[in-house]
Amino acid sequence: MSEMIDEIVAEGMAAIAAAGDERALRDVEVEFLGKKGKVAGLMQEMRNLSAEERPAFGKDVNIAKQTLEKLVVAARRTLQTATLLKEVSDPFDDPTLPGTAELHGGLHPLTIVTEEVEEIFRSMGFIIPDYPEAESEFFNFEALNIPGDHPARDTQDTFWLKDGNLLRTHTSPGQVRAMREFKPPFKAIFPGKVYRYEAIDASHEHTFHQVEGILIDRDVSVANLIHSMKVLLDEIFKRESVIRLRPGYFPFVEPGFELDIQCAVCGGSGCSVCKQSGWVELLPCGLIHPNVIRHGGLDPAEWTGWAFGLGLSRLVMMKYQINDIRHLMGGDLRFLEQF
Ligand code: PHE
Repeated sequence: MSEMIDEIVAEGMAAIAAAGDERALRDVEVEFLGKKGKVAGLMQEMRNLSAEERPAFGKDVNIAKQTLEKLVVAARRTLQTATLLKEVSDPFDDPTLPGTAELHGGLHPLTIVTEEVEEIFRSMGFIIPDYPEAESEFFNFEALNIPGDHPARDTQDTFWLKDGNLLRTHTSPGQVRAMREFKPPFKAIFPGKVYRYEAIDASHEHTFHQVEGILIDRDVSVANLIHSMKVLLDEIFKRESVIRLRPGYFPFVEPGFELDIQCAVCGGSGCSVCKQSGWVELLPCGLIHPNVIRHGGLDPAEWTGWAFGLGLSRLVMMKYQINDIRHLMGGDLRFLEQF
């Protein structure tokens, strides 16, 4: 019987010595020392022994087991050291270098603010349709009361597409699309990218973001408009906002206004964001021109409405005190990772 033990120990020692890596060693360990391994098998042999032989045999099997266990531990240590040595002697692998940080994704500041604005309007019952960025000349200009020879076209330098369409220069084409799509009375906002063929500087980009808002109902007045704009700015800035109204000319509204908000960065005392004026031009708006209502398929004698075009890019810049609009579309991760 004790030859059987010697044989298995010899076999085990050879297998341990031959194991070339930690995985192979683990397999050997299971084969000999596992629950159903060869050493456990020896214990089963006890049944065939007499009561006097059993204690001595059991003792020998235990010694054999401990011998193999010690060898496995030693072999494992040797293999681990070898792996480590290989790693540190690799000229391309310097273990003293700092580790690589995990990369985290995040939301773009424009996305954050757009979602906030959408949430505010959704809670006030506005619908949020989506309209095309490649637009027809009709919806971008004609339907908005800007005929071909109208000087207002020059204020919105346009990227024309080869097929005669264009990249929308504002979100206002959605006004007419929404009137054609939804049954009045209704209120809607449509945020999105707009494009202008502009010389680029700290406050001008060829691609920027607006949110257009419209409300169509009976007997809408300038008082409704001003009140609504005030409420929405209070919501957006989460405080009582100070506003100022100036006449503004846009062919698709009558009367039209430029709505300025007292600079949130300096509180009106003057800073680089408001160009020392204390005011930021943020919200052109007005009552929708009867011609536009007509292009929307509605009767201006029955339906009236207001519209605004909120400068989303500018809003983001105010909120996060960003002084150069080019950061927004620049794609520089060092900038974006701050949000
Ligand atoms: N579409 C105009 C622009 O981009 C802004 C505007 C929208 C003005 C709605 C009045 C009403 O300049």
